[in-house]
Amino acid sequence: MLSASKPFTLILFGASGHLAQLKIYPALYTLALKKRLPDAYTIIGFARTAMTDDAFKNLVSESVRRDMGTVNEEVLAEFVSHMSYHAGQYDAVDDFATLEKKISGHEKNWQNPVRLAYLSTPPEVFTSVLHNLCDSNIHVSGKEFRVIVEKPVGHDLESYHVVRDELKKCFEEHEVYLLDHYLGKEAVRNIYYLRYANPVVERLFKNTLIHHVEISALENAGIENRAGYFEPSGTFRDMFQSHLLMMGCLLTMRLRDSDEFIRESRLEALKQFYLPPAKSLDDIALQAQYSPGMMGEEPVAGYLQEKGVAPDSRQNTYAALALSTRASRWEGVPFFLRSGKRLQKKETRITIEFNEPRVAGKNTEPNRLDIILQGEAGMRLHLQTKVGGTEPQFRPLVLEDPLVCYGDCLPEHALLLLEAIAGNQTWFLSFEEVNTAWRLIDPVQAHLQKESTPLHTYPAGSTGPAAADAWIQKNGMKWL
Ligand code: BG6
Repeated sequence: MLSASKPFTLILFGASGHLAQLKIYPALYTLALKKRLPDAYTIIGFARTAMTDDAFKNLVSESVRRDMGTVNEEVLAEFVSHMSYHAGQYDAVDDFATLEKKISGHEKNWQNPVRLAYLSTPPEVFTSVLHNLCDSNIHVSGKEFRVIVEKPVGHDLESYHVVRDELKKCFEEHEVYLLDHYLGKEAVRNIYYLRYANPVVERLFKNTLIHHVEISALENAGIENRAGYFEPSGTFRDMFQSHLLMMGCLLTMRLRDSDEFIRESRLEALKQFYLPPAKSLDDIALQAQYSPGMMGEEPVAGYLQEKGVAPDSRQNTYAALALSTRASRWEGVPFFLRSGKRLQKKETRITIEFNEPRVAGKNTEPNRLDIILQGEAGMRLHLQTKVGGTEPQFRPLVLEDPLVCYGDCLPEHALLLLEAIAGNQTWFLSFEEVNTAWRLIDPVQAHLQKESTPLHTYPAGSTGPAAADAWIQKNGMKWL
């Protein structure tokens, strides 16, 4: 069982932000609770807001309590005793120099500590932080160091290159951990391992048997006061460039006998995806925005009414994309990806629909395999069985398993942090992966941003835009 065995210092940039409070503090607390942290470690929160150490510890404790519901107060108190706060400007090297002194003070009696800098800040400040980490000697070559950068790395291919160049100036590639939290989810990793461990399933994944694949990441949440991040981003850039493409890769990548080659195989698969030839990009991509609606019994605002959103914003909160792949065994299989906010329910799902059965037209549906990763998680194989009687009539037969995590279950950020501390990059993105993903996404993104590209609407709480149903029907399919 993987634990953090070496002493470490974690510097968290963006320490008062949404991601830190929602995911990172609860993840670190879980590691403390499960006794997966060493005795010697320190976590230093860095952000612009002035705050005392006590106020910071309070903020951390509150975010853990909010997320976990019930906590072990003794463990929580011990955990926050490892934390302190450092207020500073991301572009002020002097603030980093004082931070360095603080870190050295903590590490005084430790043997070979690992230093980790976690950038959970808006992408605009990445380059200043990276630059200052080096200029202030917080990063010095020869000592174990990891820089963890949350997705999105950049805003498009060009801005990604700026961040990449800055990273390369100062860090070795083995020190860079580009984080897509979906790759820390057990259920997402399991897409690959289900194939690996089940030759029977793997044999079914073949272009001669498959009609099409759907990858959906549907959310009921809205933008949750994150207009500052979401307005310049939108769902297409936020979800497709990273999470959705990665799920596609795990499904189509070459199986390898050693995890050592997983990254390489994932990249190979990513490179095989391409935009199918079409008369217009409107045929392969679609965008929409939520209007006021009802989430259950509750009336909810439309996107344009959300705090911080421009009243005439054309940003998408829903998008769909058609893709093709040249991956061996998958060539010619159409892929349909979609993601949206403020939909009826949260569900992350891969559905593989197989070709029509021979008995088509006799009350049968095509066979289908659903791998539901989030929401009502489970794996469901949809078959048909004869009703019985003299007529060849059929009824659906569903084989299913809830795909619950029974083992050493850790939240995604906890698992990824442990792996980063241990120096294992397998489930982090490589530069080449991020580059390839932006290359694929950029032309579509540019098209969606044009004033002339339609922006459809859908009521909050609905199953999505009617236009998306019509769009997929044009391809002879329907969303499942
Ligand atoms: C993040 C996006 O990367 O993933 C968010 O920035 C999105 O907009 C989130 O809501 C979804 O993650 P999860 O783990 O809730 O499926």
